[in-house]
Amino acid sequence: MKLSMEEIVNYCKQYGFIFQSSEIYGGLSNTWDYGPLGKELKENIRQAWWNKFIRENPYNYGLDSAILMNPEVWVASGHVTNFADPLIDCKKCKMRHRADKLIEEFTNGQETADGWSNEKIEEYIKVQGIKCPNCNSQDFTPIRKFNLLFETHQGVTEEAKSKVYLRGETAQGIFMNFLNVQRTMRAKVPFGIGQTGKSFRNEITPGNFIFRTREFEQMELEFFCKPSTDLEWFGYWKSFCMNFLKDLGLKKDNLRFRDHKKEELSFYSKATSDIEYLYPMGWGELWGIADRTDYDLSVHENHSKHELKYLDPETNEKYIPYVIEPSVGLDRLFLALLCDALEKDLINDEERLVLKLKPALAPYKVVVLPLMKKYHSEKALEIYAMLSKYFPCSYDDAGSIGKRYRRSDAIGTPFAITIDDNTLKENVVTLRDRDTMQQITIPVNEINDYVKDNIIL
Ligand code: GAP
Repeated sequence: MKLSMEEIVNYCKQYGFIFQSSEIYGGLSNTWDYGPLGKELKENIRQAWWNKFIRENPYNYGLDSAILMNPEVWVASGHVTNFADPLIDCKKCKMRHRADKLIEEFTNGQETADGWSNEKIEEYIKVQGIKCPNCNSQDFTPIRKFNLLFETHQGVTEEAKSKVYLRGETAQGIFMNFLNVQRTMRAKVPFGIGQTGKSFRNEITPGNFIFRTREFEQMELEFFCKPSTDLEWFGYWKSFCMNFLKDLGLKKDNLRFRDHKKEELSFYSKATSDIEYLYPMGWGELWGIADRTDYDLSVHENHSKHELKYLDPETNEKYIPYVIEPSVGLDRLFLALLCDALEKDLINDEERLVLKLKPALAPYKVVVLPLMKKYHSEKALEIYAMLSKYFPCSYDDAGSIGKRYRRSDAIGTPFAITIDDNTLKENVVTLRDRDTMQQITIPVNEINDYVKDNIIL
């Protein structure tokens, strides 16, 4: 049985995955803190991405660039003038809406206004008779553009010269380091640079828990290739990303591609496709994959007056590489994995909440359970100390063994190890599998290898 979004939010709070930020002061809207289990899960997802896209990939290199950059970066990239959402106000109830979202909701996602001009959006709303979702009126103001970049000031003065932006995407830090990485790593095109980290957008309509927030994390790859090979690489990265999601355990029926129509494409993009996930509130963008042509490096070359061309050592050709960009939100992937893996099972008429994450992603790999605290905790703590050097483990000696199994199932711990009299006598433990609930007996000195073999993605 699948859970609703409200149940997912409550689950996250109850089990220490995600809390409302600064709750004792009434919180800050749409701002969330990752608790002990959320932090572990998030890092496991990040690590899985890093392994697949950087460490195991022969083409790609990693980076960790600064959040604050010279503001000219954002001028050149077009964010200062164009990184804006179309805002519309209802004249009757004064409710503010994102005009493109009104169209998306009205057409149940059949129409997206991405890339439409303000005039086209206004005309569509008028002709289709779209009403204010709050008061049903049809009296809207003209569209105004609302820039999403967060501004702040560096240093002690607040004058225009000290203005800096919190980055709106991690990608620009990669473009800034294109030549640094290419030269120091002696990289030959095609190659990619990837990084993960926080991005900030002053979203007008944040919501749906961690789906759309103002502070979030991205995992982005900018893949630099020869101009004539871009569409081939675009297809390659589309399948690569989809396969990665399936390897993480997401069900294929909950995933789909949405290729952008020609009129939706940004003027510089040759092709764009989103991987969408079926969240409890409906299909939503999880991963954007775009052929950005030579747009980004060209605008930075022009604006900075620094050459950003690549010299092909074999042909002596000098050119600006094309870029394929697969960009995924870490928090959105976290939410998709939770929605996909959290289930309510019925076992002998009793409800069991179980988080069926792949063991590689589970916050704890093993829970160590002394059957009776009084007699078995010393040995259990010894085993816990041995295992926790290698894996995140938990230790639980409170309540009946059944209750302790239920709790570890609910937080997704794939293996539960029970220490009993047999452990003291014969140095063996009972190992229970979260999904099958089957129990096996294994020697203490084999637990490590058993777990290690079962947590590889
Ligand atoms: N560099 C390209 C770029 O940033 P994007 O489509 O704006 O493209 C990429 O963002 C991904 O980042 C999205 O597919 C989504 O997963 C995530 N994302 C974007 N805005 C977000 C927000 N406000 N909250 C959470 N995740 C967001």
